[in-house]
Amino acid sequence: MADGITIAFGPLGPVDHGDLVVFVGDDLTLAPSVLEVLGRNVADLIARAAPSERFKGKSLSALSLPAPAGLKADRLVVVGLGSEADRAKTDWLALGGFTASKLSGRTAHLALAVPGMTAANVADVALGARLRHYSFDRYKTKKKPDAEDTKLTALTLMTSDPAAAAAAARTTDAVADGVMLARELVNEPPNVLYPEEFARRAQALTELGVSVEVLGPKELSELGMRALLAVAQGSTKEARVVIMRWNGASDPNETPIAFIGKGVCFDSGGISIKSAGGMEDMKGDMGGAACVVGTMHALAARKAKVNVIGAIGIVENMPDGNAQRPGDIVTSMSGQTIEIINTDAEGRLVLADVIWHIQGAYKPKLMVDLATLTGAIIVALGQDIAGLYSNDDELAAKLSAAGEATGEAVWRMPLIPAYDKAIDSKFADMKNSGGRHGGAATAASFIKRYVNDVPWAHLDIAGVAMSSNASEINRSWGAGWGVRLLDRLVRDNYES
Ligand code: BES
Ligand code: MN
Ligand code: ZN
Repeated sequence: MADGITIAFGPLGPVDHGDLVVFVGDDLTLAPSVLEVLGRNVADLIARAAPSERFKGKSLSALSLPAPAGLKADRLVVVGLGSEADRAKTDWLALGGFTASKLSGRTAHLALAVPGMTAANVADVALGARLRHYSFDRYKTKKKPDAEDTKLTALTLMTSDPAAAAAAARTTDAVADGVMLARELVNEPPNVLYPEEFARRAQALTELGVSVEVLGPKELSELGMRALLAVAQGSTKEARVVIMRWNGASDPNETPIAFIGKGVCFDSGGISIKSAGGMEDMKGDMGGAACVVGTMHALAARKAKVNVIGAIGIVENMPDGNAQRPGDIVTSMSGQTIEIINTDAEGRLVLADVIWHIQGAYKPKLMVDLATLTGAIIVALGQDIAGLYSNDDELAAKLSAAGEATGEAVWRMPLIPAYDKAIDSKFADMKNSGGRHGGAATAASFIKRYVNDVPWAHLDIAGVAMSSNASEINRSWGAGWGVRLLDRLVRDNYES
C-alpha cells in the first residue's frame, strides 16, 4: 500500500499494546459490547479524565490518555461522536481521518461498536484513516531520527462482524489506492513527471487488467492531433496520449463511458509566459489526467462492472524557438481551425483533440472531462468546489449527487450562446481565448465545440486539484480530487 499502513479487521477484544481507540457520544458512555470486553475500568478512566480535559464527546474531538491505569495498551484515545440524534449523519470518512490524526504509536486498535454502524461505515473509517495518513515525502532526505518509531504501520479495526467489514474494505482499499496514486502524480515535480514518465506510470495499470495504449508524436500526427501537438512543440519533452480501457461489464460489448483528462505536466504559459510568482504550482496542471488514472486504478482494482475508457493528453507547455506563437492558426483533429490568442490557454487545445478522438473512435455513451483549465474558476468558486459545465441535465444531476455523497462537490455553471460567441475569431473558426470576462465559461464553450451529440460534462478543477485546503482526510498538496467522485458516479449509475 502506498500509505504503508496494514489494516486488519478483527473481533472486539482486549488490547495489550499500542493505541486503543474507543468512541463515545456526548453522554460519554461506551457501547455495551465495548464495555463488556474492555471492562468498567475504561469507563471510569473516561469519566475521571473528561472534565479536567473539557472533553464533552463532541463530534471530531478527542481525549488522549497515555499509560492508562489498569490497561496494557500504551494509550487510550477517546473519540467523540456527538449527539445520538445526529448519528445517522455521521461522516465516517472524516471520523476515520480525524482518528488517524490522534494516534501516536506504530500500532492501534479501534473498538468500533457504534450501534447502527454498518460494514460500509467501518470500511469508510479505514478509508479515511488511509487518506489522512498519506504524505508525500519522497524527496525529504533529512527525516527525523525518531519519526519511524511513531509512524503508524498497523491498524486493527475491531467490530462485531470483521468478515463483512473486510469485504467492504476491499472496495474502499481500491479507492484509497486510486486517490493516493492521483495525489502522487500531482505532487511529483515536473522534472521527474514529464509526459513520457507519466505515460509509464499509467502503463502500470496493465497489472490490474487495464489495457493501456500509448500514442507518441508519430501516431498523434498521423491522427491529426495538431492542436495538442502545437502545445507540445515548444518543449523538448515529447507529447503522449494514453488510452486506458477497463472492460468489466457483464456484457463485454456494452458501450463504454469515457473519462478524459488534461495532463499538462508543466504549464509555463508558453510564449504568453506566466509571471514568476507561484509558477511552481503549474506542476499540478495535470490534475485532470491524474484523476483519470487514479479512477481507472480504483475501478480496475475493485473490478467494477462497467466498461470505461480513460484517456489523457499529456504535454509540457514551454517557450522556446519552436514554440507556437500568438497569431498562429492550428487545425485540430476535428478539422476546425483555431487562432492562438494566448499560448497559456493550452489545456483546451489538448482536450479538443483527445475528446474528438475518443468520441469518434469509441462512440462512448457519455464523456466527462476533467481539467485544471482556468484561474477564473478559482475566482468564481474558490477551492472547495469544482465548476461543472454540461450539455445534459441528467448527467449533470448524477455528478451533483455523486459530489454530495462523497464531499467532492461540484457546482453547475451556465453555458449560454454568448460564451460561444466570445470565442469566434476574425481569422479562423474560433480563437483559444475569449478574454478575461467569463473565463471559465468561454473555456467550457471552446471544449463544447468538439463535442457532438453525446452527453458530456466538463469539470474545471483548477481550484480543487492542487494547493488544497487541509481536511480531515487530506493533508497533501495534490488532493487526488475526483477519484472518489467518479468512482461513486460509476457505482451509483453505470454498473451492470
Ligand atoms: N493551467 C492554467 C489554469 C490554472 C490556473 C490552473 C491556476 C490552476 C491554477 C491554464 O492553462 C491557464 O493558464 N489558463 C488561463 C487562460 C487564459 C489565458 C485565457 C487563465 O486561467 O488565466
Ligand atoms: Mn495555461
Ligand atoms: Zn494549463
